[in-house]
Amino acid sequence: MKDDWRISKRVQQIEKSAIHEMTRLSRNMDDVAFLSWAKPTSNTPEHIRKAAISAIEQGLVGGYSGTNGLPELREEITKKLERDNNINAKASEIIVTVGAIEGLSAALMSVIDPGDEVILPSPTYSTHIRQVLIASGKPVFVPTIEEHGFSLDVERVRQSITPKTKAILYCSPSNPTGTVLNEAQLRQLKDIVLEHNIMVITDEAYEYFVYDDNEHFSIASIPEMKKNVISCFTFTKTYAMTGWRIGYLHADEGLIPQIEKSHIPFAICAPVVSQYAALAALTGPQDCVREFREHYLSTRDLMCQRLDQLGGIFEYQRPQGSYLMFPKILVAEGRSSADFCIGLLKDAKVSTTPGVAFGPTGEGHLRLSFCVPHDMVNKAFDRIEAYVK
Ligand SMILES: Cc1ncc(COP(=O)(O)O)c(C=O)c1O
Repeated sequence: MKDDWRISKRVQQIEKSAIHEMTRLSRNMDDVAFLSWAKPTSNTPEHIRKAAISAIEQGLVGGYSGTNGLPELREEITKKLERDNNINAKASEIIVTVGAIEGLSAALMSVIDPGDEVILPSPTYSTHIRQVLIASGKPVFVPTIEEHGFSLDVERVRQSITPKTKAILYCSPSNPTGTVLNEAQLRQLKDIVLEHNIMVITDEAYEYFVYDDNEHFSIASIPEMKKNVISCFTFTKTYAMTGWRIGYLHADEGLIPQIEKSHIPFAICAPVVSQYAALAALTGPQDCVREFREHYLSTRDLMCQRLDQLGGIFEYQRPQGSYLMFPKILVAEGRSSADFCIGLLKDAKVSTTPGVAFGPTGEGHLRLSFCVPHDMVNKAFDRIEAYVK
């Protein structure tokens, strides 16, 4: 950064995103096999698209909604939280946000003072790290236990708490590892959180994409946690609505006016057309969610099978959820994950994401995304096979 640019230190400390860098490099190439994007490749279901068109035609979307969202949408969200998350919610405890991302940012901005520490299990979603920095907080990375599927090391979380710890922010199911935090772990976490009176901010973007015997558990379903959790959700993954930019958060009624103070300057309200689409998503048929889940599960199994066939090139933990996995690179001695991924892109035309983007314990890994058609997985792995042999 040149000295004469008047840029805040807050922004200057943030490094270029490895994810966007890989996208930039692959944009200049033809016929790339993409395993680097964490966005659903399916189209938004038709009934949701039609509901948005109908709202436009009825002239409902030209103005702002209330800052916290349409009342009928918030009402439907409370039903969903009760049914699927076991969270006893009122409409007054909901803010409809510009995707989960704006909800997470608003939550952090309303909780974090400059220099406050935020615990992030590592590896973690790269955007969470940036969000903590933008809020002038200090990320404190707590390594997860890789050999146990990158599980949360609750004891290490306890040991990492200092007088400056204000919050813990996690995503479960996880981007980038596919780990699902189970109820027992989250109940242990609850004990620590209440003992030290810190906040939990959750990112539950992949809540419906959980496989095998695993179950999604929302920590806000524990009644004692009421004043200590802000839970962030999204329509992006569940209904393949990435571009609609629509999500929501739930918190105690007493917290909502405070979170609103950081939501309004960034968003005023979530896009109104997308709020009508989200209403249709919640009230319409849910077959699409089951179909997406079944597809991701079959693609996960295919990817694991292809990794097994490669032999000792990578070592991986089978993802329990999300549509991402985080194999360790066994063959790149002395090379950084960025170097390995750039080589894979330039020489084999396979786009992946270097693990270094996901916190200090991410180095030496790469993130692979399985929200793609089977053909894409096979094309990528045929090329990886030829590249490493
Ligand atoms: C863990 C996680 N949270 C949030 C998001 C983005 O959510 P939204 O589109 O709702 O802002 C992503 C997208 O990749 C993600 O992986």
